[in-house]
Order: sequence, then C-alpha cells, then structure tokens
Amino acid sequence: IEEEEKSGKRKPEMREPVVGSSILNALEKYFAVAVQRAYPELPDAPVIISLSGNSKFGDYQCNSAMPITQLLKAKGEKANPREVAQKLMDSVPPFSWVEKLEIAGPGFINISLSRSVGHRALKDLLENGVHPPPVDRKITVLVDFPSPNIAKDMHVGHLRAAIIGESVSRLFEFVGHKVLRVNHLGDWGTQFGMLITHLQDIYPDYQTKSPPISDLQTFYKESKKRFDEDAEFKKRSYESVVKLQSFDPVYNKAWQLICDVSRKEFQKIYDRLDLTSTEIGESFYQSRMEQVVKELEEKGLLEEDEGRKVMFGRSDRIPFTIVKSDGGFTYDTSDMATIKYRIHEQKADWIIYVVDAGQSTHFEVLEACAVKAGILDPKKVRMDHVQFGVVLGEDKKKFKTRSGETVKLAALLDEGLKRAGDKLKEKGRDQVLTPEELRVAQEAVAYGCIKYADLSHNRTHEYIFSFDKMLEDKGNTAVYLLYMLTRIRSIGRLAGFTPEALKESAKNTPVSLDHEKEWNLAKVILRFPETLEKIMRDLLLHHLCEYLYDVSTAFSEFYDNCYCVEKNPKGEIISVNVGRLLLCEVTASVMEKCFQILGIRTVSKM
Ligand code: ARG
Repeated sequence: IEEEEKSGKRKPEMREPVVGSSILNALEKYFAVAVQRAYPELPDAPVIISLSGNSKFGDYQCNSAMPITQLLKAKGEKANPREVAQKLMDSVPPFSWVEKLEIAGPGFINISLSRSVGHRALKDLLENGVHPPPVDRKITVLVDFPSPNIAKDMHVGHLRAAIIGESVSRLFEFVGHKVLRVNHLGDWGTQFGMLITHLQDIYPDYQTKSPPISDLQTFYKESKKRFDEDAEFKKRSYESVVKLQSFDPVYNKAWQLICDVSRKEFQKIYDRLDLTSTEIGESFYQSRMEQVVKELEEKGLLEEDEGRKVMFGRSDRIPFTIVKSDGGFTYDTSDMATIKYRIHEQKADWIIYVVDAGQSTHFEVLEACAVKAGILDPKKVRMDHVQFGVVLGEDKKKFKTRSGETVKLAALLDEGLKRAGDKLKEKGRDQVLTPEELRVAQEAVAYGCIKYADLSHNRTHEYIFSFDKMLEDKGNTAVYLLYMLTRIRSIGRLAGFTPEALKESAKNTPVSLDHEKEWNLAKVILRFPETLEKIMRDLLLHHLCEYLYDVSTAFSEFYDNCYCVEKNPKGEIISVNVGRLLLCEVTASVMEKCFQILGIRTVSKM
C-alpha cells in the first residue's frame, strides 16, 4: 500500500497532521486507517483512543481490539483480542508522531509518542505563540448570555450564566469562529404595565425630572403590591401594557427610563467581570412575534386550549403558550420569534443558550417547536441549552444572605474583593508588592477565584459557593494556579531572560526533553488542542480547568527534579539551562491562554 501511495497510484490514506493539531484526533485517524485496512468487512468498527492512565504503558492507548472481536464473533468468525490487536498493529500507516506500539493485557495497544513531534510542536509554540487547533469550517456561533431581567436584580444564576457564557464565547473566538454574544434582556412583558403605571402615579413629572428609582427592586415590589391589591390599578396597568406594546411614545419614554436604571446597574457588574454581550432584548421582537404567530397559525400548528393558543412540539410534552387568552404574548412566543431571527437573519450556525437548568423543559419544547415549524433544521443548525445547576450556600441550602435575602451580586463581588485583599495580606504580599501591584493582584484573585470555582465544577451539577474554598492556596483553585504562573514567569526573568530573548533562543536551542519529567510536562502541554476540541463538543469548561491543573502539577514535578538555573552556595547563578527555561516559557504561555479563555486576568506579580 505504501509503495502505491508513494508512486501516486493510490491516494494516501492518512496525511501528516499540521503541527499544533490534536494528537488524540491524529491517533484516531491513524487507527481508523488500520481498522479499515485490517477489517474492511466491518465498516462500523469503533476506533477508541484514550489517554493512558500510566505513562509506563505508553502515552495513549487504542482499545478497539475488544469490540472488534465481538463484532467478528457476531459474524460467526473465531477471533481473540490479542490477535486482533496484532493485526491492527500490522496495518497502521507510517506516522512520524508514533514511536512505538505494544500489545498489553487482553488486547490494548499502548502507543508511545515520538519526542521529535514534541520538539517540533513546542518549537512552534515558542515561535508562533499558542494557537488554536485547526477547524474544518468557520461558522457563526450565537451565545445567549447573561440575559437578566429589567427591574429585578441579577442573581447568582445570572452570575453563572455570565461566567460560563463569557468563557464559551472566548473559546469559540479563539478557534476563529464568528461569535455573536447576545444579551437577551428581559425588557418586555406585562410587568411593565404596572411599573409604568406606578411611575406615573408617584412621579407625575418623570418626563422632565428624573425620578429617584435607583432601587428598582423596591419599586417593583411596591407596584406589585398595588397590582395584587388594587383592581383599578390592575386595570390601568393592563391598559399601559397595550399602549406600550403599540409603541405609544409617552409610555415608551417611561419604559426607557425604567430600563436605563437597570441597565446601568447591570453594566457595572459586566465591567467588573470583563464581560461583553450585545443587548438585543425581548422588546426587539415585538413585531416579529406578531409575524411568527401569524406564520404558525397559517401552518395550522396552533391549537385552542381554554382560550389560549398553544403549540405542541412533541405530543407527549407540555405545549408552548403562543397567545394568551387576553391576546398577549409570552416568553414562549418571544423565544420562537427570537430563534427565527437568529437563524434566518443573523445566520447563526450554532445557537447556545446559557441558562439555568430549571429552564431545560422550556428549551426542549422550544427546539421541538422550532423544528416542527420548519424554523430550525437540525441538520444545518445546532442548538444547545448550556444548562447549569443552582448555586448553594455552604449550608447546602439555596444561596441566601444571613438574614435570608437573595444575595446581591454587587455585594458578593465586594465581599470577594475584601476577602482576596485579606488573603494577600495574610500571606504578607502587601510587604512585597507596590500598592498598585497589590490592587491589581487583589482584583485578579477576587474575580478569578469566583469564576474559577464556577468553571472548574461540572456545570450541570449544583454548586456550593464558598469563599473559603475558592481562596485556598492549594489544590485546583485560581489562587494556586495564578500564583504558580507568576512563579514560572519569574524563573526566566530572574535568570536574566526576557520573553523576547527566550523567543530568540528558541530558534536554535531545542526545548530540553530528555529527562522523564521534562517529557511528561511536554506531553501535557501538547494535550491543549485536544482539550479544546473536547470542550467544543460537550461545552463543559471544567475540562479546561482540569487541564490547567494537570499542567501545573506536571510543571511542579519537573521543577522539583530538574534544575533550570544552578546557583552556588552564595546564591550566584553559575549556569542556566536554556532548554529548560524554554520549557518553562511554553508552560507559562499555555497556562496564560487557558486563563484567557476562562476569562480570568493574570498578573505578573502577586
Ligand atoms: N431572562 C431569562 C431569565 O432570567 C433568561 C433568558 C434566556 N434566553 C432566552 N432566549 N430565553 O430567566
């Protein structure tokens, strides 16, 4: 086969992947060729590659021999897994990334990588920076986050949406997709009727004098109370909604005013969290809701149900309420209009809703209805509800303040800042850092620890919010990892090398990979592309946190065993191992990139 490939008689079955692409992916292709060559009669034979649990037994392993044996037996053929493994090994194409294959146990194939691939990939990282794994096609990804509601405070659920949504967006931007960050603000609906009516009643001159309603939460509660108790007020509130939704300028002005108060408060939170998301609120879809209702009606998809018009996505599921009995629209209507706009006008190829798990039924029904209405073609557009569990307090109950109120985000961030400051002082950092450096470190630690604690847990589970845990300086925490990064960066600096000088050295000095711990660290670094690929499949960011922690653990082992800089008893530098400094440098760049994707600021000193 190889002869024929070389002479051009046969199309090569496997091309050498570009430097910087995922090793796991390359090995999958490599074994896919072997499986196909060895067992052409089994087109569905699985290609299973995993990371090896112990580097003594190779770096990755292929576990296909066992299922292939089963498939053969099912066809009535005699087979044993070790023989199958041998046949696979005999059928692999040439591939410079693999140094050695070995059969182990009942039929695993242990795969050892060649150091030359390590040298090449690390040199590339040093010279060209950390770049993303190549993607087949650039697409448009729309990320819906954090989408809070006007006149209500952002709560910890929106904080999770903010953190996860920002990170998902950064990941897709890094790999080169077009990302539309959309803040689907809850700025429409019947509650505005009562808010506007209340505003008109108590601040009649609101059009000329800006009313003191900075505490919108209280304002909301007051108007809700009147709405529930006062029939006349309720009636006027309904009339206000109608006026607002028909774009009456006076009511529009009042609505704008209320929205702006919330907007300002939200923006402060976004700024503190380094979050950007472009507002396209629910109100934007008013005319589109009217259109989509008409469309669904024409297609005969709406059913009468006690005066409401409902649509079933799947008959065994609760339906969407498309038109209420009073003729008004709902959250469901708005999401139908929204998804249509996103697909048909914004041309999204992938829509990601970062919303708490409590709304999972809503999004299942949305998907089913959108498919049924011909709005969403699942073959062309992917839709994901990136759901997350509730935030619990340390008592494992719903996260509340001591007095039982819902926690205000601004207050939470303030507490984070204070605690981070205390932590740094406790470590004596205020003695070493300038006030400005201390402030930068304090912010990085405060917001970093909140984000990292969130992202490092599997988002689908509930999660316990604990400042004590997130500020621990050992283990898989932001504090530990940020500190680790500053230490790694300081190694080169203290040896007199700037990052630029190291980049220059990388041109002719190879990264040192002879020591077992060096090679182990290098292999972890090389797993960066496959880690990103995995997250792009399941949208679970804790893989990246685990990876970051693996990098730092591998680094510690390397650093404990391998001198980078040798000093004499007087503390003077007597020799510098540049090949190892280069390894420190790539470690730092990869860690930095991880932090960047996680939305966490790094610091040069802390
Ligand atoms: N405003 C909603 C909430 O706070 C979230 C909106 C999510 N996005 C959407 N397209 N439904 O629960």
